[in-house]
Amino acid sequence: MISQNTIQQILSRIDVVEIVGSYVKLKKRGANYLGLCPFHNEKSPSFTVSPSKEIYKCFGCGKSGNSISFLMDLEKYSYVEALRWLANKYNVEIEETELSPEQKIQQQSADSLYIINSFAQKFFSDYLFNTEEGKNIGLSYLEHRGFTEATIKKFQIGYNPEARDVFATAATHAQYNQELLLKTGLVTVRDERLVDNYRGRVIFPIHNQSGKVLGFGARVLKTTDKAPKYINTPENEIYVKSKILYGSYFARQAIDKADECLLVEGYTDVVSLHQAGIENVVASGGTSLTPDQLRLVKKYTDNLTIIYDGDSAGIKAALRGMDLAFEAGLNVKLVLIPDNEDPDSYVNKVGADEFREFIAANKKDFILFQLSVSLKDAGTDSAKKAALVNQVAETISKINKAEDFTKQQDYIQQCSEILKIEESGLHTLVNKFIREKITKEEGRINREQAADDLAASTAPVDDEALLLFNKDELNERAMVRALLEFGIKQWDETITVAEHVFAEIRDWNLEEMIDNKKLISLINNYRALYDEGAVPTPKTFLYNDDLEVSALVVSLMDDQYELSPNWKEVFEGKINTREDLYKEEVFSTVNYLKLRKIKRMMDENQRDLEKFHTPEEQLTLLQVHQHLKKTEIELTKQLGTVIFR
Ligand code: UTP
Ligand code: MN
Repeated sequence: MISQNTIQQILSRIDVVEIVGSYVKLKKRGANYLGLCPFHNEKSPSFTVSPSKEIYKCFGCGKSGNSISFLMDLEKYSYVEALRWLANKYNVEIEETELSPEQKIQQQSADSLYIINSFAQKFFSDYLFNTEEGKNIGLSYLEHRGFTEATIKKFQIGYNPEARDVFATAATHAQYNQELLLKTGLVTVRDERLVDNYRGRVIFPIHNQSGKVLGFGARVLKTTDKAPKYINTPENEIYVKSKILYGSYFARQAIDKADECLLVEGYTDVVSLHQAGIENVVASGGTSLTPDQLRLVKKYTDNLTIIYDGDSAGIKAALRGMDLAFEAGLNVKLVLIPDNEDPDSYVNKVGADEFREFIAANKKDFILFQLSVSLKDAGTDSAKKAALVNQVAETISKINKAEDFTKQQDYIQQCSEILKIEESGLHTLVNKFIREKITKEEGRINREQAADDLAASTAPVDDEALLLFNKDELNERAMVRALLEFGIKQWDETITVAEHVFAEIRDWNLEEMIDNKKLISLINNYRALYDEGAVPTPKTFLYNDDLEVSALVVSLMDDQYELSPNWKEVFEGKINTREDLYKEEVFSTVNYLKLRKIKRMMDENQRDLEKFHTPEEQLTLLQVHQHLKKTEIELTKQLGTVIFR
């Protein structure tokens, strides 16, 4: 368990704009920031981040939360993992209270893999530069290929010697656990001994978004070898191939600047292009792109340019799964490198300037390219051609029509030309796919709706949002929000807002004043903390490890209450913020709830009066009524300002 002290330190440093901003491109809009929602596909931004409230909210899909829930949602972290991520980001040292044995093992496993990888990376780099074998074999190979020392160091490329177990021995000496060493794929067991897995290979470390080593690609040097050219890290807790794009750590800023991501196949392509000054480049490892990889690209830019060599089997692989890219709203272009070259060899041959010019001049539209390749493949086989037409229509149907209507029309026209078929025929086919897609979507939404209904009793944010349509609920929320936000401000010279509120509601049964049980428990929590001498703010509850509480506070902070303008002030030209009007807000929200309770009591009294009573009873009830009526009038007079949305 992470200690409370550590958690407080982390929370005090959290900057929601910075955290969300490391995943989403944010632009400042007034007091808030705006960007494309990472939780659903959209082309115009509806994802808002409020630095002052420390929350985000998407007006498209409705997702909202704080920095921690953001990490939990996007990275699928647990609460504790999110805290660890933040601690690492803000250099907060984690103080641990006792962990359960299982927790220990699980947490240590991922951490240890990073530690071993870092050890290995340093070992391989050191071996490359500081040993005879490293220099004579590894370094001379890399230099022969044209990589400079600066480039080799930047990408932390290394060398694993040829002897059986040089690395394995070093790692064992350093006391790394055998089971974990095996997980990294760096070593393997032969004849009951640990031996090196990447013997006689140059090693390309693969980095995550923050520059930590996830794994390695190890390239064979001897051309005669029958062994595979590259051996890559096996899947483990930290190396998940489908989520990795090689080079993304080094490319991020350049992609941002160029608003374009270049995608190549291999490690050496990335490294060579970087060396040539073309830094907005990542590699897929020659397999088709996965949704996670596309999402990674989409975080930085909408423009993806695939640069493959003309004969590569990789093109076929890249062609698959491209529909996903169109659905995600990526603009995909393709450049084929000629004459059996790949980007690495080609940039070395023609130089950076000519390479850039070539890319600019040879960008082809991906869909049209895909079509002409497949058309060539199909030859005269009419069944294949028919299948192809279907496939093209399906791809085109995935371009988001509402946003990209002309793009879709253009494709239909150009594709029908290439296919030599009637444009209207292709049009009809595309529409068929769109209809099918919509039907499927509706099915999905209905299923989700049903699931939501089931979950409604336990889903805090959503049912909270629904209740917002209820004015009473709205006012209960406004009162609690005012308490959370302004509680520690002064009410007058002697007492704070919180003390004022507690005095005001002392004689009123909270259960009868506020319907929402969760709000009541929030008030009670607040009071308990306050009585202990703490200084509670929304933040105190925002990062509560009880996710229901935190979700409730997020949704409270997200409410858009406003006080109706006081006419006198309007005439005087004063514009007041909530901050200026906090006393009024506290006052009116508390009084509103009192008034509501009075009204409810009057209704009850009224119903009682309608029943049969003795004259004495009747008199008492009438007196109660009069008393309530008097209180009501007083409250209404004082209330003046009305809360509305
Ligand atoms: P290539 O065969 O094109 O290699 O594979 P390359 O990157 O151009 O390397 P050099 O220039 O010959 O040194 C492209 C990518 O496919 C993956 C690697 O990620 C490689 O960079 N690959 C290839 C493997 O994972 N294993 C292999 O055996 C071959
Ligand atoms: Mn190559």
